[in-house]
Amino acid sequence: MTKEKLLELLKDMSLEEKIGQLVQLPPELMGDDAMATGPAQSMGITYEQIYECGSTLTVTGAEKLKKIQDKVLSTQPHKIPMLFMADIINGYRTIYPIPLAQGASFDTKLSEECARMAAKESSYDGLHVTFSPMADLVKDSRWGRVMESTGESVFLNSEMGKAMIVGYQGKDMTEEGSMAACVKHFAAYGAPMGGRDYNTVELDERTLKDEYLPAYEAAIKAGVALTMTSFNTINRVPSTANKWLMRDILRDKMGFKGVLISDWGAIGELVNHAVAADKKEAARLALEAGVDIDMCTESYFANTKALIDEGLISEELLDECVLRILELKNDLGLFENPYRFADEAKAKECILSKENRALARKAAGQSMVLLENHKSILPLSEKSGKVAFIGPYVDCKHLYGFWSLWGRDEDTASVRETVDEFIKTGELSEKPSFAQGSNFLKKGEKLVQFGGYADIPENEDEEGMLNEALNLAKEADTVVMLLGEHAFHSGEAGSRTDIRLPKPQRKLLDEVSKVNKNIVTVVFSGRPLDLRDVKKRSKAVLEAWFPGTEGAAALLDVLYGKVNPSGKVPMTFPRNVGQLPMCYNELPTGRPNNGDDTNRAMSRYLDVANTPLYPFGYGLSYTKFDISPVTLSSDTLTKDTSITASVKVTNVGKVTGSEVVQLYIRDKVASVSRPVKEHKGFEKICLKPGEEKTVEFVITEDMLRFTTINNVYESEPGSFDVFVGNSSATDNKAEFILK
Ligand code: NOJ
Repeated sequence: MTKEKLLELLKDMSLEEKIGQLVQLPPELMGDDAMATGPAQSMGITYEQIYECGSTLTVTGAEKLKKIQDKVLSTQPHKIPMLFMADIINGYRTIYPIPLAQGASFDTKLSEECARMAAKESSYDGLHVTFSPMADLVKDSRWGRVMESTGESVFLNSEMGKAMIVGYQGKDMTEEGSMAACVKHFAAYGAPMGGRDYNTVELDERTLKDEYLPAYEAAIKAGVALTMTSFNTINRVPSTANKWLMRDILRDKMGFKGVLISDWGAIGELVNHAVAADKKEAARLALEAGVDIDMCTESYFANTKALIDEGLISEELLDECVLRILELKNDLGLFENPYRFADEAKAKECILSKENRALARKAAGQSMVLLENHKSILPLSEKSGKVAFIGPYVDCKHLYGFWSLWGRDEDTASVRETVDEFIKTGELSEKPSFAQGSNFLKKGEKLVQFGGYADIPENEDEEGMLNEALNLAKEADTVVMLLGEHAFHSGEAGSRTDIRLPKPQRKLLDEVSKVNKNIVTVVFSGRPLDLRDVKKRSKAVLEAWFPGTEGAAALLDVLYGKVNPSGKVPMTFPRNVGQLPMCYNELPTGRPNNGDDTNRAMSRYLDVANTPLYPFGYGLSYTKFDISPVTLSSDTLTKDTSITASVKVTNVGKVTGSEVVQLYIRDKVASVSRPVKEHKGFEKICLKPGEEKTVEFVITEDMLRFTTINNVYESEPGSFDVFVGNSSATDNKAEFILK
């Protein structure tokens, strides 16, 4: 449809029809028994009105969605199709690693391919929009949703977000297998105080602009179709009612022209934030901020007409929102084909196909991070002797992470099952022994999910489990501990103040380490955990995150050396929870810690070092890489020139491997305090033993800009350090001057 036709359509719509477009219905309302549900009653909606609404979420299935669309087309006066949205975060039915793990892969191409796969599976199953990517920058692993971010580097987050958007949306959203993406949560949802979900965000404007906003902006530049508001306040104003944020920054400065959707219930929650007396006032505030869709409250549905009738808002304001929604439907091709790609046969063929599983396995392998590997205990081989796999992850099939709403345990093999399969196919020759050793959680402990408690198996005989594990450990030459958080420990509302392994697993590791010294610990988690004790008791530590449907196969690939680990931590691993929030790009203080223990007046802790356990960008390999000193093509940069920073990287080990070469820059003196290092580039290269490659990074003036003392986003002349290395801790540097 042309823009003119859309405008004609808008003109022809009644006020009620227009308001309907702004309403996103909760999934409970989309069934045949909708009218019996609480939400229908509390929204005051009739059965017919349901099918005149603009969108719904979390309902899937080609057949079901086609039926719903049929009802919409026969009810909605102008036959305006409904939008079907869902949280397709790290896969639809074929689950690939959680976003934090994708960050660890430093492989944007792979994330793009994974997003494409998810878009295909879910669009054949009838979906139009995914609520991904999450571009929220994170520095505090107490917050459970760090699993949904790609980490603490705004550069990495921007690159990853762009790649995912290209994967989901394709070149054009009418292209088969594509869907609309939604960047979230605008803005700064990843910085809640104390790491407690939904809590207040306190950020100074400069930090907000320089560190938190650019990843959303990168998504907007990449053409993302929707943006979602965040639950938090910024400068004490909830985002969903924040005119400055949504109009001045998002629309005017960043140029976002797409649909702005509230997060679930966020318009109604303006009442809880105590900036609106009731939902009517909440609706007015959100409409004035330019929020187009009200996700799952009756605020817009029940109040917009009255707001217009009473002259509290203009109909033009409503029209603005409706037009953006109609444009999105048009861009998705819904007016021409209201079912879009919903196709039972294609869905069946595509979902969990061999190809998709292979991609998920590859992505999981690329995202695992080798944190320790003393005496090259890994990879496992004949020299490992008798191997025992011990821990609650031996039989766990829930390897997906929190947001994998359509991932099913029956589609996933546990580590034990995968070993059996590998023995059958000849991929493994020696069968290890297995014991669970402990429960996931403390006796009687429960993890709450949305709507009930998670079903986490609990074995009554804790002592029996432990003894079985200890007997195996005593007989084994090498023990692989499979430990970690449960998926429901992280994710939305998964904040924790203790980020160690769950207690029974700590005890298990402790006991096993008393009878066997050759321990390899695999950690499954949705966040950087406090791994001090794990490090002490293990010769090797492998961070596996939540690796997805093919996670067990990918893990065996890495443990047995078929895949050489190349992941790097995308978030600082603290020594303990007391160091949080923590990041690689902190500001220098007036009293830096110079290690002089006789001097009290330094910025440090009395009980723990300032440094992290593992810094951003860190990760080992089964081979070793040499990185030469940095050379610069010139020692002077101007606004119209560029400098190339180069290093030679050589694989000096015995096996092929990949290294993530990372660029950091430090602005040495400026009008405001500047970070000790800022991540500005990376390149992942694969080298055979003995092979050498030159890696080059082009540095231009725009990479040096920040919000100066004059509140202008610009660079300042002066001296800069350029670091190139294999983690943020590198001190391999050269210097240049910006004229
Ligand atoms: C709430 C979450 O914050 C958001 O990320 C998600 O997309 C919506 N719920 C919809 O499920």
